[in-house]
Amino acid sequence: MNKTETNKDFTIVAKTLFGLEEILAKELENIGATNIKILQRAVIYKGNKEILYKSNLNLRTAIRILKPIKSFEAKNEKELYNEIKKIDWEEFLSISKTFAIDGTTSGEIFKHSKYVSLLTKDAIVDKFRDKFGERPSVDIENPDIRINIHITDTNCSVALDSSGTNLGKRGYKLKQVFAPLSEVLAAGMVLSTSWNGEKNFIDPMCGSGTIPIEAALIAKNIAPGSFRNFGFENWKDFDKNLWNQLKKDAKNSITECKIKIFGFDNDENAISISKENAERAGVLPIISFKKQDFLNSENEITESTLVFNPPYGERLMEDDEIIPFYQEIGTQLKHKYNGCDAWILSGNLRAIKFIGLRPAKKIALFNGPIECRFNKFELYRGSKK
Ligand SMILES: C[S@@+](CC[C@H](N)C(=O)[O-])C[C@H]1O[C@@H](n2cnc3c(N)ncnc32)[C@H](O)[C@@H]1O
Repeated sequence: MNKTETNKDFTIVAKTLFGLEEILAKELENIGATNIKILQRAVIYKGNKEILYKSNLNLRTAIRILKPIKSFEAKNEKELYNEIKKIDWEEFLSISKTFAIDGTTSGEIFKHSKYVSLLTKDAIVDKFRDKFGERPSVDIENPDIRINIHITDTNCSVALDSSGTNLGKRGYKLKQVFAPLSEVLAAGMVLSTSWNGEKNFIDPMCGSGTIPIEAALIAKNIAPGSFRNFGFENWKDFDKNLWNQLKKDAKNSITECKIKIFGFDNDENAISISKENAERAGVLPIISFKKQDFLNSENEITESTLVFNPPYGERLMEDDEIIPFYQEIGTQLKHKYNGCDAWILSGNLRAIKFIGLRPAKKIALFNGPIECRFNKFELYRGSKK
């Protein structure tokens, strides 16, 4: 690969979660992406190979980084098959590599994404078989090359997935409690608060520790992709020297963290899981994890940012317990956290109203399929409704 080719800009699509698009666009600006355009649950931009690698290594709110290779129109299955077959697959794939297809469809013509994936797979396999009499194998779980096909009505777009496994799986969270947040959502929540690492940070119901660990990674400027491998490392044009240099640069950019981050939970097991996860993420020294019941804590806290997601009432609690629980959270915030900002994510849109404080901000987010509110409460004397 010569230098000119490495420096050539191409179109890149970063997929994200609903509500995090603008934060992702800001992150992209920071890594040097250009022509940034916000779409729904995605941001499209231009960049070279370095930007593609950095997107995987440094972006905290992206779930997948795609490199489109062909767009076309197809009005039926035959046209789709033929267009896929026209692509020069040898450029990206060889017989010895495994591959998988992720398909998403919307519109009246192509209704079944699984069928579209199957058809795409057939076209690729047939192309190799016609030429070599042999074909690359499919591996759904752990393929070398992941191919993405996205169809809206008759508009088809084929892309290579440079990430591989979802970027929400950073690799440090090997154990988790019930109902953990994805690392991408947790990072997006922390970045939405504009917390800049100067105030103390508390998650009083930390579960597996995802929120305080993501806050610590942000405070120390640790690249979220430092703990794992990526799909592009299996690509034919993989530039190992460039990748090693970028990882080295990321290591050298790690900073000291001056404040303290706290993670509490009333479940002893959650605390030990959080500690193990934080250790793997290399941030245990700056997080203090302790078993503590938020509702019965006597400590008075000031000048801190709280970010947490209490139980929603699904499996963790019965419906008649959840309203009084949220009311008690509100009472505790009012009495013990003067001068703090508290951000609460809840998938129970009724219960969150019972906090009994007027939200200074409301952000709509999704935790998987569950619609949530991420509300900010500014706590000072007299903030009661
Ligand atoms: C939805 S989970 C949090 C998940 C977490 N954000 C993660 O990513 O793993 C809610 C957590 O609140 C904790 N919890 C419930 N009541 C609590 C209380 N009164 N004080 C402290 N923690 C509590 C539960 O033990 C549980 O771990």
